Amino acid sequence: MRIIRYPDALESSFIPNKLAYREKEISTISGLVFSSLMRGLSTPLWIYGPAGVGKTVTLKYLQKATTEPRIFYENALSHGSMRAILVSVLGQLGKLVPPAGITYKQIFTALSEFRKGAGKSMVIVIDEAAHLYMEPEGIYNLNRAPELYGLNISPIYISIEAPEIHSSFREFSGSLRMESLRFRKYDAGELYGIILDRARRSLSDGSWNEETLRYIAESAEGYGSARVAIEVLQKSALIAEHRGSEAIEPDDIRSAISMIDPFVTESKLSELSDRDLITLLAICRILRHSVSTGVKEIAREVRSVSDEFPVRSQDFRVYDSIRRLERLGFIKGKIVGMGDRKGVSKVIQISDIPVSVLSGKIENILSVMAG
Ligand SMILES: Nc1ncnc2c1ncn2[C@@H]1O[C@H](COP(=O)(O)OP(=O)(O)OP(=O)(O)O)[C@@H](O)[C@H]1O
Ligand SMILES: [Mg+2]
Repeated sequence: MRIIRYPDALESSFIPNKLAYREKEISTISGLVFSSLMRGLSTPLWIYGPAGVGKTVTLKYLQKATTEPRIFYENALSHGSMRAILVSVLGQLGKLVPPAGITYKQIFTALSEFRKGAGKSMVIVIDEAAHLYMEPEGIYNLNRAPELYGLNISPIYISIEAPEIHSSFREFSGSLRMESLRFRKYDAGELYGIILDRARRSLSDGSWNEETLRYIAESAEGYGSARVAIEVLQKSALIAEHRGSEAIEPDDIRSAISMIDPFVTESKLSELSDRDLITLLAICRILRHSVSTGVKEIAREVRSVSDEFPVRSQDFRVYDSIRRLERLGFIKGKIVGMGDRKGVSKVIQISDIPVSVLSGKIENILSVMAG
């Protein structure tokens, strides 16, 4: 007997026909953006929050449920520039234009001709909007399109990062009014509700029970991510099926978690030197309250962490340590522009491990070392 009967509901592209736990966000977006737009008021909105908390699915859900205003969904990662995004929206409206050399004026004029005919308003959702950080003027043009080009249009940006994260966006914050809405992590109870719905839709009766799902929800709570919870459910079901079992057992869930979460293992951390552990702990502590950090901040935090854990090597080059951690895949370094002619700087992030989990593990190891 197969455990997975309807695999679609376990896929990331699946859009549930009712979206639980995001009612407040949905009504905020409808009220703030859609209703205002119907009255001719544009309200640019920046949506942000950690990975897997339903930012994308909420907007896709709204797109399905809304006929007026018309909602266009685009992903900045797949287009790379604001012009390409807007050209793609034109394409969705049936107007094909070559993206090379086209000006914002030409794009918005074409958009307004198209929408004027229908007399209608439009919302453009730009997912993964952090990829637009190189072109704040694109955001500027879109946000001001109602005044500049007489369009009844309102943009919604989606990002993991808060709107003030990129300096190039910050330059405009004075001149651009932009509302923001934070999506928070799900707690274990909510994750349970989400995977209960998926299990009912996709898995055969008797292959799972409440305890199975509770265990998955609790394992995913550190991330607060529905994506992690759904993926663990999907992988546990596949593993159980592969074993020829008719039901998901706790060990299937553990294997699934270790597949998703290969980094957070003591063995990997214990290969690091005490210096690199201190650097990593310093980064984790900073990132508890911030999505990214820089070399200077890390160096400062390293000093206070070394006071707390007096291990052998006090004196070391933080920069080298950061590079090693990057090579080993513990952290991600990204070079970003500091705005017009101010050069570039390196920002450090940890995206796929909850820093609280990682901090705890490092503290344990360092205590033993200092022991
Ligand atoms: N409230 C919810 N009810 C049901 N499914 C949900 C809910 N929230 C998220 N999901 C599901 O969890 C997965 C991750 O959600 P989504 O892709 O929207 O996250 P995200 O916030 O956009 O993450 P990222 O920043 O990584 O893009 C998707 O499969 C989505 O369908
Ligand atoms: Mg998303």
